[in-house]
Amino acid sequence: MTRKIRKAVIPAAGLGTRCLPATKSQPKEMLPLINKPAIQYIVEEAIESGIEHILIITGRNKRSIEDHFDHNIELENVLKNRGKWSHYKEVLDIAEMADIHFIRQKEQLGLGHAISCAKVFVGEEPFAVLLGDDIIHHSSKPALKQMIDQYEKYGQSVVGVQEVATENVSKYGIISGQKITNHVFELNDLVEKPDPEDTPSNMAIVGRYIIHPEVFDILEDTKPGRGGEIQLTDALKNLCRAQGLQACQLEGKRFDIGDVWGYIQATLSLAIEDEDLERKLQYFCRENFMNEKMFSNNR
Ligand code: G1P
Repeated sequence: MTRKIRKAVIPAAGLGTRCLPATKSQPKEMLPLINKPAIQYIVEEAIESGIEHILIITGRNKRSIEDHFDHNIELENVLKNRGKWSHYKEVLDIAEMADIHFIRQKEQLGLGHAISCAKVFVGEEPFAVLLGDDIIHHSSKPALKQMIDQYEKYGQSVVGVQEVATENVSKYGIISGQKITNHVFELNDLVEKPDPEDTPSNMAIVGRYIIHPEVFDILEDTKPGRGGEIQLTDALKNLCRAQGLQACQLEGKRFDIGDVWGYIQATLSLAIEDEDLERKLQYFCRENFMNEKMFSNNR
């Protein structure tokens, strides 16, 4: 019998250097996608997937994440007194969305180190990890729920993967293994950010994990790897040897919002989900792009 996945860890301590200067004094996780900060999409995915308790791992200059998921009594009172009930409810719902805990990663020693900060919160049960840079836009089932369903069937730790172009493999953890059904892979190895010429496959880890708690002991002995950081991928490689590991090929459009182009793509994709914004966007594109008014002739 597998245990229910109740807890999720969201590492959010990164510096956001790829989005500077926007992230100089505000966390990249708080950058808005349409009218919600990016991290709210991640928290909503976790809740829609059945998660009950969330730990967000923050760092210095990340206070606004805590504030976002807390009550703002002054704002709530103003909205209430002005009768702005839909805004009032929206603001209240965010504060009551889930049981959210926070912990600070005091040194930036890598993703593996960030996850090890969750040891006490997680305890002895399997848990989920969702990386804040990866927004996975689904049509029917949230990415994490797809993985939880797989975990409940096979009982093994799972990494979420999608296919990427060979020239991009060096941005990801890459898996090596056998496909056993349409979307399930049985893994024999993992490598963090391989060079394109040495990559074992094109299947990349896209920021979603379900991990057995034994990973914490492994992380304690994991030495700095790629980039001098303690890599979660390296710990998972050992977990794979010790107790097996699967990958779940995720359905849904995935955007790396830690990157300016990924951020633009995510914003546009979410905009066309909204009828009113889609209409305005279509009109705007027709007006400005079709006649190339917006493009510089010199490019
Ligand atoms: C991290 C992981 C990597 C994974 C990626 C997904 O890398 O280390 O294995 O493929 O997230 O976004 P980062 O993007 O933090 O360098």
